[in-house]
Amino acid sequence: MTDLFTPLELRDLEVPNRIAVSPMCQYSCEPDGLPTEWHRVHLGSRAVGGAGIVMTEATAVEPRGRITPHDLGIWSDEHADALEPITAFIREQGGVPGIQLAHAGHKASKCRPWDGNLPIQPGETDPDGASGWEVLSPSPDAYPPFDGDRPAMKRADADDIQGVIDAYRAAAERSLAAGFEIAEVHAAHGYLLHEFLSPVTNHRADEYGGSFENRTRLLREVVDAVRDVWPEDKPVFVRISGTDWLEGRDAWDIDQSVRLADDLADRGVDLIDVSSGGLHPEQDVPGGPNFQVPLAEAVREGADVAVGAVGGVTEPEQADALVRNGRADVVLVGREFLRDPYFGLRASDDLEDDPTAWPEQYRRAVQ
Ligand code: FNR
Repeated sequence: MTDLFTPLELRDLEVPNRIAVSPMCQYSCEPDGLPTEWHRVHLGSRAVGGAGIVMTEATAVEPRGRITPHDLGIWSDEHADALEPITAFIREQGGVPGIQLAHAGHKASKCRPWDGNLPIQPGETDPDGASGWEVLSPSPDAYPPFDGDRPAMKRADADDIQGVIDAYRAAAERSLAAGFEIAEVHAAHGYLLHEFLSPVTNHRADEYGGSFENRTRLLREVVDAVRDVWPEDKPVFVRISGTDWLEGRDAWDIDQSVRLADDLADRGVDLIDVSSGGLHPEQDVPGGPNFQVPLAEAVREGADVAVGAVGGVTEPEQADALVRNGRADVVLVGREFLRDPYFGLRASDDLEDDPTAWPEQYRRAVQ
């Protein structure tokens, strides 16, 4: 058996292979955060397609934490009930359902990418008539706009911060009720938790800003809240940006990521999913195949925790080599899973020659 298809044990969970669908926003809800037929088919087909882990898109823990009004959410029991048939289907296909729990911070209240990505100010609407809102920021003065004007922003006060922690805890409880087996805390890509981590976007002088200890405090508190309600036998992941790609500035970098990963592992985090960037428009991102793998590798070497690598993985052999060479424990695949929902089955055919990987419904027809 190849390394890519060797099951992975995380606590009492067995992940059948090392291929994960990377979280990818679909912007396909009504402005109520409830999943639609699109989500059921989109996530369901990738489960049929042989992914070991099927991770949802960034799923907002509170309404103002949505990137756009059309993002998925999990801020009520109704959301959990609506997600349950999707997790059941993923499990029926032999996959593990995971949920990425997110808060978009000051990158919230935007039009969908295909509507131009611009901020929707409170009182204004996007082309679909969905309303914007005031966004939450660690330090509004430090907001680095990627697109358009500054959104209306509120500096997170003590109540907001406690509210975010409580929202993550409640979202984790609901995710469990919805049948998810992995909870991933989204602390990457310039969204709220990353905004607190990076000195570029965090100019606070209170206990949530300044030193490494202070900037990482909110993420630690969120992780503790999630771990508190997430069962001992199930894993928690955290997605980080391994670096802000702002060389020469006082920014978030790989050394801080390694130190953070070690802290998080001590607090019961089982896997660090290492992405990068997304915080500042002047980022200098290299791109290309495996472009973030050196960051994942550094975390894997420097911290005692499993690691997910993501970015520019398009070929089964490439994914297998990442696991075989000890560079990652899990390989998350994004855009290639959009091009080919059956990437997992393709990988199995290329690497394993195991017809039973295919669902019964298709097996005889395609062998
Ligand atoms: C993304 N990405 C992303 N990341 C994340 O953490 N949460 C999310 O909701 C999204 N949404 C999203 C939507 C779409 C359409 C794309 C293409 C990407 C980033 C994604 O998970 C992945 O990290 C990158 O796409 C890099 O991996 P690939 O695409 O090179 O395999």
